[in-house]
Amino acid sequence: MIRVTASTIRLLTAAAVALGLALAAQTPGEAHKAITSKYLFNEDMFPLFRDHCGRCHVDGGVAPMSLLTHEDAAPWAESLRLEFLSEEPAPPWHQMKLTSRQLDMMLVWANGGTPRGDATKAPPPVTLVNTWAGGTPDVPLRLPAPFTLDAAANEAMHDVVLPLTAAAGRTIGAVDLLPGNPAIVRSAVLLVKNADGTTRDLGTWMPGRTAAIALATPLKIAAGASLVAKIEYRRTWKYEGQVLTDQSTIGLYEAGRRTTPPARPTPGGARR
Ligand code: HEC
Repeated sequence: MIRVTASTIRLLTAAAVALGLALAAQTPGEAHKAITSKYLFNEDMFPLFRDHCGRCHVDGGVAPMSLLTHEDAAPWAESLRLEFLSEEPAPPWHQMKLTSRQLDMMLVWANGGTPRGDATKAPPPVTLVNTWAGGTPDVPLRLPAPFTLDAAANEAMHDVVLPLTAAAGRTIGAVDLLPGNPAIVRSAVLLVKNADGTTRDLGTWMPGRTAAIALATPLKIAAGASLVAKIEYRRTWKYEGQVLTDQSTIGLYEAGRRTTPPARPTPGGARR
């Protein structure tokens, strides 16, 4: 029979620590750093990344890398710290509200060896969902031709003018854009130009929206008006040197229509 003394406990503790280190050292990519994080990818970080980052950080999304598997997310620990936990002001695509607990989770996980957690609890694969957040628009206006981002260009501005014949006489309450190629459409300034040259600003579309852009006051479309879209294209390093095309659609919603999604995304699913 083993008598549990202080020295036995010390011995057991030392053995447990050694075992823990040995196990950590066996996991590829985690060998260099001791696991100190109480937050684990599968259990804690995946839901956070899915709900707050996954609209863009999903394969094919506007961000350069997925954060939705442990293999994809773990190498970004350092970058994550710089992006979210430094004093630098966040770029427009990262201006989201995160609670101090969520920031703390990211810091602890990134600093603490980015542990995977229980391998049997690996999250379901997430694929890009590229659909209208507010449902099919009343007036969809597709770009008349695809826009090509040449292999040599990292960014481009593209102005398109779309006749609003199909919307004339209708009162519009919201507007949205559905990217043809979600990986490169960075922003779009949308306005209505009347036959007399006057314009009305509708708003600026950005990726990762969860609802159409609601107009402050509804707008009746006059005969002869057109929609002007100033679309900003930009590639990330992931698509370096590739010829990429986009043919986005701009959607108008009649005033009074509900344009927010009816339900939260399903577990494992990401909205565009
Ligand atoms: C609205 C879209 C969007 C959302 C939401 C978003 N990101 Fe990003 N993120 C981007 C884009 C776009 C870039 C690439 C910027 C560039 O290099 O042009 C980026 C870059 C990054 C980078 C730096 C990559 C590098 O090349 O160094 C990190 C780290 C990052 N995001 C983490 C996150 C995390 C964590 C979240 C959630 C808390 C998040 N992002 C949410 C769009 C988004």
